[in-house]
Amino acid sequence: MTSVVSNGHATPSKPTISHAEQRRVIHHDADVLIVGGGILGCALAVALGRQGRSVLLLEASLKEPDRIVGELLQPGGVNALEQLGLRDCLDDIDAIRVEGYYVTYFGKPVTIPYPRQSPTDPLPEGRSFHHGRFVMKLREAARTCPNVTIVETKVTELITCSHTKQVLGVECVNRDQRQDCYFAHLTVVADGYASKFRKQYHAHTPRVKSRFWGLELIDAKLPMPHFGHVLLSDKPPILVYQIGSRETRILIDVPENLPSASVKNGGVKSHMRNVVLPSLPEGIRPSFLAALEQGTLRSMPNSFLPASTNKTHGLMILGDALNMRHPLTGGGMTVAFNDVLFIRDLLSPEKVPSLSDTKKVLKQLSTFHWQRKQASSVINILAQALYSLFAANDENLRALQRGCFSYFQLGRVQGPVGLLGGLIQRPLVLFWHFFSVAFLSLWIIIRDAPLWKLPLALIQCVLVFWTACVVIFPYMLIEAFY
Ligand SMILES: Cc1cc2nc3c(=O)[nH]c(=O)nc-3n(C[C@H](O)[C@H](O)[C@H](O)COP(=O)(O)OP(=O)(O)OC[C@H]3O[C@@H](n4cnc5c(N)ncnc54)[C@H](O)[C@@H]3O)c2cc1C
Ligand SMILES: *[C@@H]1O[C@H](CO)[C@@H](O)[C@H](O)[C@H]1NC(C)=O
Repeated sequence: MTSVVSNGHATPSKPTISHAEQRRVIHHDADVLIVGGGILGCALAVALGRQGRSVLLLEASLKEPDRIVGELLQPGGVNALEQLGLRDCLDDIDAIRVEGYYVTYFGKPVTIPYPRQSPTDPLPEGRSFHHGRFVMKLREAARTCPNVTIVETKVTELITCSHTKQVLGVECVNRDQRQDCYFAHLTVVADGYASKFRKQYHAHTPRVKSRFWGLELIDAKLPMPHFGHVLLSDKPPILVYQIGSRETRILIDVPENLPSASVKNGGVKSHMRNVVLPSLPEGIRPSFLAALEQGTLRSMPNSFLPASTNKTHGLMILGDALNMRHPLTGGGMTVAFNDVLFIRDLLSPEKVPSLSDTKKVLKQLSTFHWQRKQASSVINILAQALYSLFAANDENLRALQRGCFSYFQLGRVQGPVGLLGGLIQRPLVLFWHFFSVAFLSLWIIIRDAPLWKLPLALIQCVLVFWTACVVIFPYMLIEAFY
């Protein structure tokens, strides 16, 4: 078996092979080398390849991924994909149209459609699908790009210049266990959430407070088809969305040390059976029970990782390796595609004629660090803040959760879901809605308190307001200053 996958456009034996391709295939040398052919790696390979850069894309396994991540692309992400000229990757994968969210609070529902951004715009749409099918489409797009060569190989090490510390390329092992090396002016680390190569070059480490446990349901009857379902109660949040004509994903958040999922109480499986099952809408229960009995439970850590500026010559870290937020709001792929858009512009051949000018590249990457916040800050802050509210584990957070749902019930939904969908990119709008929710929560506390309890209610108001500040300000500060 050969590990070098020809790109279908020209094979090494044909005379039509370009000089650049010859360099990639024979000398393992390119302008850009991307570690990881996932969501970000593939999109970036296509974007830079189409600009005429010579790109090597190294991926550990070219088999269709089978994962419980990256299954709902927000409308903001669909827009970014469109701008990248990759919109057709959503075709022919049995993707499901997503029109908004359907949120229930102890069974009471609110429907929250994505809002038009202007009266003449069409209604925004997201898409949900099998992650693996979408990745295969992105890889296909990279494969058919003549300036991109995909290689199935596992990267083991970055090669650096012992003198200048510049990253020169990577070492890897092929499927036949043979060692190999690849070189480029710019090495992009896009190896995902458990990045092996970020450690030394990233200022932060991921923080994990909960995991999502996933099941695939067959023929579940959702209360509101074409809407992402968020089920809230005094238990951690549950997400449900269709990912194919017959398949539905359910993701169940299980925080660390959740009593009902402790080993003593029978573990996650008994949490599912005793706590989750009775709380589900009726149309979902039979398929949930069937999936549970089949026993293919899988989980993923829900990480938080602020981005950091890259300062190493010859290196760029992107995707989940760079920046993560709680997947509750399904924002990861939207951030990734927006980042590719920023990079495509900042590293364009017009602005950076040669990527061997690593000083210029670093300058552009510093600009990138601040520019990308336009699109990612709102998504990052919202994911973390909303998770705190939706997984409320104390009295004050529960008051905010109640306030948040009442806010939705009052019809104040366009702003929040516009932010969540990646359609509104202004942090001030997020700030405004968050504190509107906080004040509504305070009002509800006062309204519901009997007169003799009013002093107590006022004290709780102070605590709830303080809690709201503690929930949002740390994330706002990280986005504003780091
Ligand atoms: C539970 C969960 C649910 C999520 N749901 C959503 C959602 O609904 N919507 C959304 O937008 N986002 C979601 N996300 C986030 C989303 O999955 C990520 O943001 C996105 O996949 C990041 O893309 P990436 O390319 O950086 O990493 P990945 O897509 O993980 O790609 C990394 C690639 O690198 C390869 N690789 C790793 N190591 C090596 C190596 N040493 N050598 C070669 N190749 C290597 C891997 O095989 C993989 O193909 C979710 C995340 C979690 C945890
Ligand atoms: C490939 O790169 C060349 C320059 O090396 C460029 O002219 C061409 O447009 C690129 N091809 C595609 C399909 O992007």
